[in-house]
Amino acid sequence: MITIISGTNRHNSNSLRVAKYYQKQLNIKEVDSRILPLNEVPLSIYSSDIYAQPSPDFKPIQDIITQTQKFLFIIPEYNGSFPGVLKALIDVCKFPESFDHKKCALVGVSTGKYGNIRGVDHFTGIAHYCGMQVMPLKIHIPAIHTELNDAGDFHLPKTLKFVTEQIDKFADF
Ligand SMILES: Cc1cc2nc3c(=O)[nH]c(=O)nc-3n(C[C@H](O)[C@H](O)[C@H](O)COP(=O)(O)O)c2cc1C
Repeated sequence: MITIISGTNRHNSNSLRVAKYYQKQLNIKEVDSRILPLNEVPLSIYSSDIYAQPSPDFKPIQDIITQTQKFLFIIPEYNGSFPGVLKALIDVCKFPESFDHKKCALVGVSTGKYGNIRGVDHFTGIAHYCGMQVMPLKIHIPAIHTELNDAGDFHLPKTLKFVTEQIDKFADF
């Protein structure tokens, strides 16, 4: 089972639309996946007590993370990096067993020009620190607001080529 983490809690998020597209393609390949959007993470993760005593309402999320061997992170660009809510999730998960010896693939998205190259690089360093093997093919999708059609599908040939290649490789990774 792959867990697709959509890396923001923002309403009407493009990252979530991208996560749904990846899930649709994985379904076609008969690869099981589930989406974890960060607005499903309870607000208790921001409590100052959380590091000493995990809150009971975080347990279902921790269980999903613990059971997952392969993660796909959709990472939007917020102020030149990845969102703080994504780092907050990593910080409250049990260390090192949540991510150690696991695998992930990374997709950067932004409305700006660079598809979160910097944020994906920042996140790569953290994924390595946590013991994850990061798939070498990382995708950066700029101008994300122009990329998905009304059905929620990528439609530009160049983007489709890279995204499809990443999904194929990730299924075998
Ligand atoms: C707090 C915040 C900061 C942002 N910073 C950047 C940025 O530095 N560069 C950029 O290209 N887009 C930036 N954006 C726009 C996002 O790339 C945009 O919201 C995009 O659709 C992907 O994120 P989403 O999942 O929130 O939709 C920012 C958006 C927010 C909400």
